[in-house]
Amino acid sequence: MVIKRATVNDISYIELIERACFEKSERYERSLLNTLLGNQEFLTIIACINDKPIGYASAYLSELCHESKIISIAVLPEYRKMGIGTIMIEEIERNALAKGIIKVALEVRMTNFEALKFYKKRGFLIRGVLLDYYGPGKNAFTMEKILRCPREGRKNSNDQSSKNSIDLASKY
Ligand SMILES: CC(C)(COP(=O)(O)OP(=O)(O)OC[C@H]1O[C@@H](n2cnc3c(N)ncnc32)[C@H](O)[C@@H]1OP(=O)(O)O)[C@@H](O)C(=O)NCCC(=O)NCCS
Repeated sequence: MVIKRATVNDISYIELIERACFEKSERYERSLLNTLLGNQEFLTIIACINDKPIGYASAYLSELCHESKIISIAVLPEYRKMGIGTIMIEEIERNALAKGIIKVALEVRMTNFEALKFYKKRGFLIRGVLLDYYGPGKNAFTMEKILRCPREGRKNSNDQSSKNSIDLASKY
């Protein structure tokens, strides 16, 4: 599997993944996807197997902000439970640390039990509730994770492992 940074040229693939993974009311509009892909403050990655895009993730990763926000993460149903979501979120966490960001936050629908289990396994903790966040009666949890630097005790990283994780495609 290859993880690469997505560009505006990948927008159709991301739309396909969105359609396969989210109900209509929870999908991102093309205009928002364009913003994610065109703005350097967002990191959007695609996971591919044999050149076929099978998952994507996007996060706000600004050096001006102490907190990173996961905007979306999705894996095509037939490729789930194979560790691909974990690899993508690890890539986002590595890039956050490389920018000196140690907190990652996100929102998740309260009834999205698979995603909740996924985030909890990755060390995210529930921090709050947003009523009607996804529409009437569709509440969300806010979740957070404090990242640990690969090297003990250091908040950030000028270390090589972090530098290596930025931008370039990674092979797994
Ligand atoms: C959430 C999602 C991205 C996880 O991707 P994935 O590639 O299947 O995740 P992984 O294989 O890395 O799973 C890691 C762990 O998460 C948990 N998990 C993932 N999917 C699960 C499921 N369907 N049921 C229960 N636990 C699950 C498990 O603990 C799993 O570890 P295990 O396989 O050792 O038990 C994927 O289910 C998905 O695309 N869901 C639809 C889109 C979505 O809801 N995104 C989140 C929006 S907030």
